[in-house]
Amino acid sequence: GARTRNVVKMMRERLSDSLLAILKSAGEVADTFGFGAYVVGGFVRDMFLCRSNEDVDIVVEGSGIAFAREFARIHNARVHTYEKFGTAVVILPDGFKIDVVTARMEYYRFPADLPTVEMSSIKLDLYRRDFTINTLAIRLNADRFGILIDFFAAQKDIKEKAIRILHNLSFVEDPTRVFRAIRFEQRFGFTIGKLTSGLIRNAVKMDFFKKLSGRRTFNELRHIFEEENPTPAIERMHDYDLLRIIHPDLRPDRKLIANFMAVKKVLAWHDLLFLDEAYLRWVVYFMVLIRQFDRETTRQICEKFAMSPRHQVIFCKDRFLADRCLFYLGRNIPLKNSILYRELSAFRAELLLYMMAVTRSRAIKKGISQYFTHLRHITTSVKGRDLKAMGIEPGPVYREILDAILDARLNGKLRSRDDEINFVRAYVA
Ligand code: CTP
Repeated sequence: GARTRNVVKMMRERLSDSLLAILKSAGEVADTFGFGAYVVGGFVRDMFLCRSNEDVDIVVEGSGIAFAREFARIHNARVHTYEKFGTAVVILPDGFKIDVVTARMEYYRFPADLPTVEMSSIKLDLYRRDFTINTLAIRLNADRFGILIDFFAAQKDIKEKAIRILHNLSFVEDPTRVFRAIRFEQRFGFTIGKLTSGLIRNAVKMDFFKKLSGRRTFNELRHIFEEENPTPAIERMHDYDLLRIIHPDLRPDRKLIANFMAVKKVLAWHDLLFLDEAYLRWVVYFMVLIRQFDRETTRQICEKFAMSPRHQVIFCKDRFLADRCLFYLGRNIPLKNSILYRELSAFRAELLLYMMAVTRSRAIKKGISQYFTHLRHITTSVKGRDLKAMGIEPGPVYREILDAILDARLNGKLRSRDDEINFVRAYVA
């Protein structure tokens, strides 16, 4: 049986009023159908850990789809349904998303002909999940709103800061959970339990990953590099001999660890200054991770993980251009602004951040940060049409003149539009 306890007080303290209202309303909608409804998984885990989480997952005993349609109707929300899986996504007018799944009443057949067990549908749904800490459910129906259901001692594991699987075949069923265990362990500062740790070693030894597609494996790896601090996870992957999934020669040596720490610093700097400029964190980390490999090896890694052409270009081409650029900049210190601009404007943010992280030259690092903070925004005030108005014959010379103005501007030689016009006059004369 499950341990139950009322957590309404905790919900009131830790969740926003609007979120609480959404959950209450979900329970009321479920009541109109006579369905059981629960908020489950990472959301509940994070409430216990006092971490904010906006991913609301609701499990419905009955029809998740009928529930989602009605909930969407009441809230003026959009709804996408996936009949085949009995799942739905509700998107509220303000963009807030709620995932809905159906828990069907069924019998759980263990793999390998173990006895068939009957379970309540919510329990079965939770039993299929990866780790005990992700199995908490809170009842939403009005008469029992806020009753916490803990079938698998999740509260105990949260208290003990332990990552534990629910049954011994968990990694057989889904080997990507090995990466998830490491990710959660590092994110929460938890420790993978002893039995679970043994099963991970077994999964690695028996190479459970060979039956996984490259794409699925990489998808989980990518999540690790999206975490706040992926460095300890890399060391942990090495403990379990998992880095060989990326490449057999990969080791978290001092240089790699130092570069990872440098990426963390650079990204923090960037995020502080340019909060609203999106980029892919994982791309920066992954470039650093595979930096030791040549073009051909890198290409093989990209292929193995079935990366999209867009990402392959970044790792196989842009990354090498960035390294060449660093070499070039190194030979042109002190760096003129015009050189920084010319060299750096071709690169997207991920590549610039990569360069800042891996360079050992203070001058280059400072140069790139200058480029980020202001050089990239500098433009000429005089444009082609102004040159025309000045009576200059249109042609390739326009590009030449405009480039010369920009260089002079970047190097601080021109301050105003008048300066630029005088500069053009002198230039043609
Ligand atoms: N899950 C699982 N096995 C997987 C992936 C997911 O059992 N390979 C389960 C987990 O129990 C999780 C739920 O599906 O609670 C939702 O998955 P996801 O959104 O990836 O998990 P979160 O715990 O919310 O992780 P995150 O905080 O990183 O979003």
